[in-house]
Amino acid sequence: MKIVTRRGLLKSSIAMASLSVYARSAVASILTPSTAQGPFYPSATMRLADVDNDLVKVLGVVEKAGGEVIRLKGKLLSKHGKALAGHRIEIWQCDVNGKYLHPGDRHSVAYDMGFQGFGHDVTDIAGNYSFTTIKPTVYPGRTPHIHVKVLDGQRELLTTQLYIAGEKGNNSDGLFGRMSAAQARSVSMVFTKRNHILETNIDLII
Ligand SMILES: [Fe+2]
Repeated sequence: MKIVTRRGLLKSSIAMASLSVYARSAVASILTPSTAQGPFYPSATMRLADVDNDLVKVLGVVEKAGGEVIRLKGKLLSKHGKALAGHRIEIWQCDVNGKYLHPGDRHSVAYDMGFQGFGHDVTDIAGNYSFTTIKPTVYPGRTPHIHVKVLDGQRELLTTQLYIAGEKGNNSDGLFGRMSAAQARSVSMVFTKRNHILETNIDLII
């Protein structure tokens, strides 16, 4: 029989307290705002053969993508704070020159073939996802952003966009401006340098 000591009781009450703090903060978090998909979502036939979660290295291509490499990571959570495992997260964004991997993008600049342009990851048991990509750059008429889609099998659960916190173009961006301050904060990437790479954490709450 297990003897419950005073120290043990204290330990478990601390654990319970921190659990409830976690649960409260997760519930208090706002739902990730959904945003328009935009015209440049690459359909399956437009994508490169390599569609993994490392967008700065394309399989079989020697050159690495131009731009500043970042690591984008976070958790996919339900509105009750439950980790959502096995969900597909897709991202797509323009290359360092502002060109999308999409035939509808008529910009007269060559696409950076070292940049994958689109990638996906599948959330692990704790709801974690991660991508290696580039810090988004300006697309004419838009503030820098990364497009994100969350799917459960074929079912689309969320389409949104991530922004750079403090970017001056955010203030004049039509889509950014539609969000409340709290919503905007929830999709604004703050970067910290870790292991020589800029890292940002964005939890997606659906
Ligand atoms: Fe876009």
